[in-house]
Amino acid sequence: SDLIRATLFPGDGIGPEIASSSKRYQFMSLPIGFLSESYPSLPIGFLSESYPIFSAADVPIEWEEHFVGTEVDPRTQSFVTWESLESVRRNKVGLKGPMATPIGKGHRSLNLTLRKELNLFANVRPCYSLPGYKTRYDDVNLITIRENTEGEYSGLEHQVVRGVVESLKIITRQASLRVAEYAFYYAKAHGRERVSAIHKANIMQKTDGLFLKCCREVAEKYPEITYEEVVIDNCCMMLVKNPALFDVLVMPNLYGDIISDLCAGLIGGLGLTPSRLDLLIPLAFIHSLNIGEGGIALAEAVHGSAPDIAGKNLANPTALLLSGVSMLRHLELHDKADRIQDAVLKTIAEGKYRTADLGGSSKTSEFTKAIIGHL
Ligand code: IPM
Ligand code: MN
Repeated sequence: SDLIRATLFPGDGIGPEIASSSKRYQFMSLPIGFLSESYPSLPIGFLSESYPIFSAADVPIEWEEHFVGTEVDPRTQSFVTWESLESVRRNKVGLKGPMATPIGKGHRSLNLTLRKELNLFANVRPCYSLPGYKTRYDDVNLITIRENTEGEYSGLEHQVVRGVVESLKIITRQASLRVAEYAFYYAKAHGRERVSAIHKANIMQKTDGLFLKCCREVAEKYPEITYEEVVIDNCCMMLVKNPALFDVLVMPNLYGDIISDLCAGLIGGLGLTPSRLDLLIPLAFIHSLNIGEGGIALAEAVHGSAPDIAGKNLANPTALLLSGVSMLRHLELHDKADRIQDAVLKTIAEGKYRTADLGGSSKTSEFTKAIIGHL
């Protein structure tokens, strides 16, 4: 058939406390496209509500769903099943919703398992001002590209003696080169003009020093792209003062984690609904595409599983939808991607149907309907 098979990780919206409830422990997850009727306690409404958008846009994708397992798979040492990893390896493309890692010893974070096992070495997080949605800045248009497999995320922490712990930050030439290569490749392919390597090599001389060295090596192969190095603290200040100064940013893992949240805050707006929802705000737009070895691409929403609003038809599906758009672009389905992206942005710009995190009062389903109306 002409359908493209893609792996779908619906993720979960209930979280760790469900995990502890013995036998019924199951991540109540919904594949995008599942009818909510089949799942009375809809964990994260937007997942179920997003799929109609893909169908309405006639996206030629056949989803292969994989749920988070109900027990630790010894082959992955986490709740992520080996079969689901195989599915991504086979299909080379996938979309994932948020996954909360159940609390407990003896297993790895779900997100980190996926990144490590699939070698998702570059995490690309576009961040741009949404037309018609006013924030303090209206000219943000940057991409953070984060090394995704090592650094402080290597999981090597030890107690040396009582009262003293250490954590190993691993930086390798291989991982640094490939993320730098990807950043420059991305910049060139997308007509971007500048790549900034973000670092703290004045203190982390060996680790960040090696990272920078690799970036410089790659930069030499791209004379048409301006290359600069910015120390991370200064980068934060500059981002907050004038985000338009930046174009493509490439950086080691932990810096990328922090900077991409900072960037989300630049476009997420202020003064919206307080409480837990406000945690969701800035992240709601940030979508990302993880690029792995062998051409694998796994798109994901960056925000968490928000168990407190799960099942209430309140969540903003934008990040996941735009992640889906990233995935479609990766598949070169640009017309479909444009259609969906335009419809999402138009709906937000119009302002009539916005979810609570954007100061509106629409339900997830109403927002979704409005998007479909724009398709
Ligand atoms: C992200 C998240 C993850 C990270 C967590 C959930 C492990 O914050 O994707 O940015 O720290 O990388
Ligand atoms: Mn993060």
